[in-house]
Amino acid sequence: MPPAPAAAATWTLLLLGAHAAHALHDPARFVDPLIGTLNGGHVFAGAGLPGGSVKAVADTAGGDNQGGYVSDGSAVLGISQLHDDGTGGSPSLGQFKLLPSRCNFGVEPKHGGCHTRETKRALNQTRPARAEPGYFAVSLDGDIEAEVTTTAHTALHWFTFAEPGEQAERFAGAAGRTAQYALASKQKASPVILFDLTNDLAHSYTGSGAVDISTETVDDGSSLTTIKGWGSYLPSFGPQDTPYTVHFCATTPGVLDTVTFVNGTIRHESSLKNPPIYSEAGVVLKLDEHALRSSAHQTWLRIGVSWTSVEKACDFAEAEIPNVSARADFDAVRSAARDEWNAILSSTFRTNVTGVTHDQLKLFYSSLARTYISPTNVTGDWPLWETSEPVFDSYYCLWDSFRVVHPLYTLLNTPLQTDVVRSLMDIYRHEGFLPDCRMSKCKGKSQGGSNADSMLADSYVKGIRDARIDWAEVLEAMRKNAEVSPPDWGLEGRGGIEARKRLGYIPRDGGGDLPDGPTVLGGRSVSRTLEHSYNDFSIALVAAGVGQMDTYKDFAARSLDFRNLWNANVMSDGFSGFLDSRYENGSWSIGKDSEDPRKCSPAFEFGQCYLLPYDIVPQFYEASSWEYSFLAANDMATIVDLMGGAETFIKRLDHGWDREYLDIGDEQGFLPNFLYSYAVGGYPHTVDRALKTYRTFFNTTAGGIPGNDDSGATAAYAVFTSLGIYPVAGTSVYLLSTPLFPEYSITSGVSGKVATVKALNWDGAKKNKYIVSATLNGEPYTKNWLEHNAFFVEGGELVLTMGATPSAFGTRLEDLPPSLSTGGFRENAGRGY
Ligand SMILES: *[C@@H]1O[C@H](CO)[C@@H](O)[C@H](O)[C@H]1NC(C)=O
Ligand SMILES: *[C@@H]1O[C@H](CO)[C@@H](O)[C@H](O)[C@H]1NC(C)=O
Ligand SMILES: *[C@@H]1O[C@H](CO)[C@@H](O)[C@H](O)[C@H]1NC(C)=O
Ligand SMILES: *[C@@H]1O[C@H](CO)[C@@H](O)[C@H](O)[C@H]1NC(C)=O
Ligand SMILES: *[C@@H]1O[C@H](CO)[C@@H](O)[C@H](O)[C@H]1NC(C)=O
Ligand SMILES: *[C@@H]1O[C@H](CO)[C@@H](O)[C@H](O)[C@H]1NC(C)=O
Ligand SMILES: *[C@@H]1O[C@H](CO)[C@@H](O)[C@H](O)[C@H]1NC(C)=O
Repeated sequence: MPPAPAAAATWTLLLLGAHAAHALHDPARFVDPLIGTLNGGHVFAGAGLPGGSVKAVADTAGGDNQGGYVSDGSAVLGISQLHDDGTGGSPSLGQFKLLPSRCNFGVEPKHGGCHTRETKRALNQTRPARAEPGYFAVSLDGDIEAEVTTTAHTALHWFTFAEPGEQAERFAGAAGRTAQYALASKQKASPVILFDLTNDLAHSYTGSGAVDISTETVDDGSSLTTIKGWGSYLPSFGPQDTPYTVHFCATTPGVLDTVTFVNGTIRHESSLKNPPIYSEAGVVLKLDEHALRSSAHQTWLRIGVSWTSVEKACDFAEAEIPNVSARADFDAVRSAARDEWNAILSSTFRTNVTGVTHDQLKLFYSSLARTYISPTNVTGDWPLWETSEPVFDSYYCLWDSFRVVHPLYTLLNTPLQTDVVRSLMDIYRHEGFLPDCRMSKCKGKSQGGSNADSMLADSYVKGIRDARIDWAEVLEAMRKNAEVSPPDWGLEGRGGIEARKRLGYIPRDGGGDLPDGPTVLGGRSVSRTLEHSYNDFSIALVAAGVGQMDTYKDFAARSLDFRNLWNANVMSDGFSGFLDSRYENGSWSIGKDSEDPRKCSPAFEFGQCYLLPYDIVPQFYEASSWEYSFLAANDMATIVDLMGGAETFIKRLDHGWDREYLDIGDEQGFLPNFLYSYAVGGYPHTVDRALKTYRTFFNTTAGGIPGNDDSGATAAYAVFTSLGIYPVAGTSVYLLSTPLFPEYSITSGVSGKVATVKALNWDGAKKNKYIVSATLNGEPYTKNWLEHNAFFVEGGELVLTMGATPSAFGTRLEDLPPSLSTGGFRENAGRGY
């Protein structure tokens, strides 16, 4: 049940009169989709809707093109229709590239005809790409402009083939006509559009695919050409024996002739069937130069994409973009897309931007927009099972997103998070386990924990009580993760369940729980123990909420298992006590097995801590023991004690950050920026660290994020930092830091009430960066944390007075956030936190 209304909040709002925070007009104008397209950010910078199935962007030939487009000036391979955002590892999707070009049509490449091989046909860019929410454009050699906008399942491409040299004259400094173009024009080059069936970003085409071309004459005597078909590819972070199929249906006017190609071989045929694996195969469409001239050198191509069938791809295209004839039709789709972005950017969030720099607004809204690219809404386009529930794909991965993205949805877009919970439960019902990662209709690899548990607990404790969610069933799904060994724990659930039950930790020598599925890699015994402990804490909170107090007690106790891997004798840089790995026989790791607590950090043996073969995978996943030793947010009071008390704890966090033993570039490194607040005297240090990290590692340049965006996780971190609150995911606690807006308000999706944060003496956190005193609904407030239900659901006003020198605010024992060992999460467990 939602909490009862708070009378106090109502009178405060009346006293204050109108809110000074308001909905910004057209926040999309602050969004720069190109932020994060360099330095391994892997951001998807193209055209799409929030959660849209089609995400279209130019794929560049640069090495780090996981998101398609990289802002390094490299050549364009084509504009493809499907992408994921910010993922690491092998790139995902990138199907159905279209490349407008000029070349000698119908002639084999070896005789001077159109190049069909991806790298040979690639075109240079003649000026920087332009991107806005719902729109992307790139200028290519040969004076060609490629623009694209989208609806949910359909991309509308707009190609302009300027007269030779026209564009070069228009854009000073442009590369102009190239040697290739000059050569091509000598050979009577034709304007063409190349359609690529087999080159997805990872070149994972499996040898199954088809294309059919047909042309019809329409009423006015002109022609419309339709290319439809499908292809099968491999998931980028999933098992390699489960290919996925995706379908397309494209329409374009004014085609004079078409050929198919397989590698360099041209065929005058109207279909292509199962070109062999590793082939580069597709279609070249020759455009009517005269028709182009009479349409201001412009033409369009509309392409629907479906995960279900070719018919569905065609239906989507026709239903979503029924009419294309003039530029106005493109502009209408583009402006509808922008409207959708504006709606989601300002749905519940109001702010006063007086004194906020343009750069901060750009960083904030660009980050907020990125959090909504994934997961992808494929409701109504789901071939794997029949369902009336919402369906989302590209949970890539919950390991990344449970910490920030989903808490952000819960805060700003509760209906979306409600749908996400329903979709996860639907996956559970049909696959048998909650997922840890999914993409392209496939299960993805698990990185250690079963973090759906913590994501679901986060929604539960923050009051999501939609009638279509049965929380007793959710608890059953979470308990299954904890208690039932899955067929392959590399893909779902947990490994090491029996060993941990016996020993209280996962032993480094496997404990009889060696890899038992093709995807299981083993190792990571410390980080897995730690994650499973925290996941158990999440189970405990939901159990308490639904009144199962025995389960609560059992799982709250199990959640303290991380203590079993605390080795007080490990020393590093003068600090003692670290998480360490143990054998089944209870001994700590010995000799060459012992890991340096700095290992896997940017400072020491970085990059050797991914999913590696069993015999070399380390005991910590993608971060050091230095970092993991801070990560027990269910019981930070114990960690502070184990580390030798508040003063040492604060020094140790600073030391870890300053020496780069901690890493903001990966998601486990987010929370430690704010963990100072768990120590007496720590709150001002949280402010210092949060600001330093934000100002050092986040900016509005193309390289302005510190690591992979990971489906908007890094983006959500920047949003929460800007709001001056950071969620302890899986609980209803937010750690206060310092707001980067003078005032904002959020309307609760649970209660409809408004919570306002107002900062007095606010100067953009230049000098006055510490909260020195606060009132909540007129009463003094001294805690360095906020509880979601008490503030964001019940509504009210938090007034912060900012100052240049820290006060006692938030620093006393009674001001600290809850920990299990000091009585937190217990007396209020039934209510939600
Ligand atoms: C925003 O805040 C400033 C300074 O506190 C105030 O002068 C201004 O009126 C506020 N803007 C709106 C639209 O309320
Ligand atoms: C594309 O740019 C690269 C590097 O700037 C250059 O070496 C190459 O010749 C250009 N290609 C064409 C076709 O102009
Ligand atoms: C196309 O070329 C690739 C090598 O790039 C080769 O593996 C493949 O078999 C070729 N396909 C055909 C049909 O010749
Ligand atoms: C398509 O355009 C025609 C002519 O402009 C118009 O009559 C018709 O209503 C449009 N159809 C849709 C579905 O917008
Ligand atoms: C997801 O897509 C379905 C079908 O298009 C739509 O009805 C639903 O509103 C979408 N959900 C969200 C959260 O946008
Ligand atoms: C525990 O097992 C490890 C690894 O097999 C071994 O090196 C160590 O000597 C054992 N400790 C004891 C006390 O048997
Ligand atoms: C922008 O952010 C990136 C990524 O964190 C960082 O490497 C770079 O130094 C920053 N640039 C500036 C000018 O702050």
